[in-house]
Amino acid sequence: MQKINHLVLGITGGIAAYKSAELVRLLIKQEIEVQVVMTEAACQFITPMTMQALSGKPVFTDMWNGSTNHGMAHIELSRVTGGILIAPASADFLAKLAHGIADDLLSTICLARDCPLLVAPAMNKQMWENPATQRNIRQLHQDGIQILGPNSGEQACGEVGLGRMLEPEQLVSAIESSQQPKLLTGKRILITAGPTIEAIDPVRAITNFSSGKMGYSIAQAAIEMGATVTLVSGPTTLIAPLNAKTIKVISAQDMLTAVLDKIAQQDIFIAVAAVADYRPSITSTRKIKKNDQNLTLELTPNTDILASVSHLPNAPFCIGFAAESENLLEYAEQKRLRKKLPLIAANLASDAIGKDESSLTLLDDYGSYQLPHAPKIVLARMLLQHVANMLK
Ligand code: CTP
Repeated sequence: MQKINHLVLGITGGIAAYKSAELVRLLIKQEIEVQVVMTEAACQFITPMTMQALSGKPVFTDMWNGSTNHGMAHIELSRVTGGILIAPASADFLAKLAHGIADDLLSTICLARDCPLLVAPAMNKQMWENPATQRNIRQLHQDGIQILGPNSGEQACGEVGLGRMLEPEQLVSAIESSQQPKLLTGKRILITAGPTIEAIDPVRAITNFSSGKMGYSIAQAAIEMGATVTLVSGPTTLIAPLNAKTIKVISAQDMLTAVLDKIAQQDIFIAVAAVADYRPSITSTRKIKKNDQNLTLELTPNTDILASVSHLPNAPFCIGFAAESENLLEYAEQKRLRKKLPLIAANLASDAIGKDESSLTLLDDYGSYQLPHAPKIVLARMLLQHVANMLK
């Protein structure tokens, strides 16, 4: 799919239509031109005037509006656009799409399209769960239509369950995701992410400041690019990407066990986790009581998970990370060679840990490549493109 510069946003009748106003604002911020088309029912929930003011363009609401060049809005609108997003997509509209019904402007544009179609369902949970809706969704999926969501949560009707429309931010990132080249289709990737926690006693532990954002971004980017992803994650507050198989662990030893259990089935291993290098030699089962003496904690080294994997006889393609406070490239290259890695990604700890944006330098057998300062999801996509090139 090409980068979308112009989108037809179809709004159908549902209370989630109010979120489409924010969606238009976000799309325009992404420099995407938005042409809004509303069904009659949608106009009961939000006015065309609101959508016109936000999109900066007249809104189309019916077949018989003569304001397009050839008077054939359904053909013209679907030809000039890079994609059509229906948000919210009501149960009724999904049923129409599944059956090729074209009885208003929006459904006719969809039938006449020669561009990608994405739909964001929004409805009551019983309507979503109804076998007819589920049958329609399967049909749409088979027809190559992308289904975005729905989310689960509290609904306008007061019930709780699946059927909420994705939030506008989620829709914008879903559009961005759908545009990524599928360079890793068929590849199985295992990713470690986040910190580990090494218990001292039942209430205390040694850990580090890793947020897991880089590892989770790489998992997300790998899924976008068609890979099958297993994410072994230390404790974080992040929500794992929907299609990743996520294994939650606490300590470095748990992480090692989880990785070794899954590694035989992997093509690529990316060690992003900030694994604790040491753990307390003894974990007290009782809370250690304080007194006025110094307390000495004896630490035992943890196994290096990445080095254990890269030295396996049938090792997958291994990628490491190096977070350093000084001599970045020199230390990172030493790590790459010591751990027998075809590729390592280096960054300054102060620039990376806990941040949403960072910079990365990639080091492989042929040299170093400086990636720009960018959001971690952007860096993740660039890193995986480099990996895909190396595997070619
Ligand atoms: N790593 C690992 N298991 C460990 C320690 C590190 O898998 N027990 C991985 C990290 O996920 C990262 C790479 O090894 O991909 C480098 O980690 P880093 O902490 O930068 O380096 P260390 O090897 O631990 O060396 P040092 O702490 O001395 O810099």
